[in-house]
Amino acid sequence: MNSRITDPVLLSRVMSAAEAVQHIQPGDNVGMSGFTGAGYPKEVPTALGRRVVAAHERGEEFQIGLWTGASTAPDADGVLAEARAISSRMPYNSDPTLRALINAGEVDYVDAHLSHSAPHMWFGFYGRLNVAVVEVTAVLPGGMLVPSSSIGNNKTWLDQADKVILEVNHWQPREFEGFHDVYYKTALPPHRVPIPLDDPTDRIGDPYLRVDPAKVVAVVETRAPDRNSDFTAPDAVSEAIAGHVLDFLRHEVAAGRMPPELLPIQSGVGNVANAVLAGLGSSEFTDLVAFTEVIQDGMLDLLDDGTLRFASATSFGLSSAGVKRFMDGIDGYKGRILLRSEEISNHPELVRRLGVIAMNGMIEADIYGHVNSTHVMGSAVMNGIGGSGDFARNAYLNFFVSPSTAKNGAISSIVPMASHVDHTEHDVHVIVTERGLADLRGLSPHDRARRVIASCAHPSYADRLTDYLDRAIAARPTARHTPHLLGEALSWHQRYLDTGSM
Ligand code: COA
Repeated sequence: MNSRITDPVLLSRVMSAAEAVQHIQPGDNVGMSGFTGAGYPKEVPTALGRRVVAAHERGEEFQIGLWTGASTAPDADGVLAEARAISSRMPYNSDPTLRALINAGEVDYVDAHLSHSAPHMWFGFYGRLNVAVVEVTAVLPGGMLVPSSSIGNNKTWLDQADKVILEVNHWQPREFEGFHDVYYKTALPPHRVPIPLDDPTDRIGDPYLRVDPAKVVAVVETRAPDRNSDFTAPDAVSEAIAGHVLDFLRHEVAAGRMPPELLPIQSGVGNVANAVLAGLGSSEFTDLVAFTEVIQDGMLDLLDDGTLRFASATSFGLSSAGVKRFMDGIDGYKGRILLRSEEISNHPELVRRLGVIAMNGMIEADIYGHVNSTHVMGSAVMNGIGGSGDFARNAYLNFFVSPSTAKNGAISSIVPMASHVDHTEHDVHVIVTERGLADLRGLSPHDRARRVIASCAHPSYADRLTDYLDRAIAARPTARHTPHLLGEALSWHQRYLDTGSM
């Protein structure tokens, strides 16, 4: 008996990935596991990509709609994008090949709030899910599944799909059993009840995913590792940003607006977010709790040195060194980490009630406090909104962080009018660059604009932004609440575009 597959019925459905993908048909919607390079299927996407390429060579059409938890990895999104296998994609992507196809108009991309993706599926907004392809650590009798390094939307895909392909990954530690908390008591309006999670450390569900064995058409085995990208060591810019965030947290504690152990923290993806976590590790803060989406290396550091007492998330986004550290000390993390479905890890009501401190990266902010997290030059999508809206909109306190310039100083991250808005002025509390921090709470648009320019803009752009603001105020005597010179604001990036860089 295969020690990872102890259900005899499902053991009898073990087959190769090439055989398994015969169950996926052109035009199918396919829900795959995977969240930030962790827990995605490793064998089926490659086999499906080969099948699609062969079909295209025969002149046959073959594309699928691909839904996941969030981003995956080169051997999932990447191979399928290379094979031109994807016609539509939801809800988040960071793969460069797929990004290029989306921006070339070849793939329809539905960039959704992550907390919405499962409920919108249950509501029927996305149509039918034909096949689920879900990586698991082990298959237990009766269709009980030990999840792997992410949960994301797996519960929903397994529930909703007509057919299920399981990938059992022997590389994932068998000791994962007990690291997950899958809440099954979700219902549709008007029958919803409050989610009984009073503290981020609460366990409210089961350690297992469930699947109806009758729907499982194939079980594929693999030993392939997750493919998370390595982080760059914090540089002077990200350390300066982290320093401003930490000083501000101290200020809030001193003002009595936060307890000394802070409130549950959420930290977004990327190097700057990791630097903030590194800053927390070398600070006086201790006994912290995370209610977040991804456990990245910085969070593992905090768990290791005792700064962090507990982390609730939906995925591990670890570098290869982080994976090794986690696997070597896995028993010590048990009981201090819980992975949940993304409709719970990102749940707006929980984020609001728990009083989460949200810290997320941004592409640009405008002087009035609107934040663009997703689009370069207003048109080309970078990754997507991910969970930033789930957390920021509902947070007790939110931070949006970015270097003050991009592309070696050629672009200011502080602009007159954001070229795309993901988070409005009504939602954004604090903007931080390496130059400083602008606390926008309780300020009028005028005061926000002065503060953002003074605190966050790079000196080579600050005078231009102030000049813009002064002229906008002078030019709009009856519209001075949030004055703009529309033609000028909308052409702010034109100078860079004219260089032919985009
Ligand atoms: N104009 C043009 N390009 C910009 C830019 C700007 N103002 N700001 C950043 N960029 C580009 C960078 O040049 C870089 O491009 P490159 O890879 O081609 O060099 C890319 O955006 C990433 O920027 P970087 O400075 O490395 O930031 P990051 O790794 O911290 O990521 C976001 C920043 C905004 C892209 C990232 O945080 C994100 O995708 N956020 C949205 C989702 C989210 O917040 N998820 C977390 C919720 S839990």
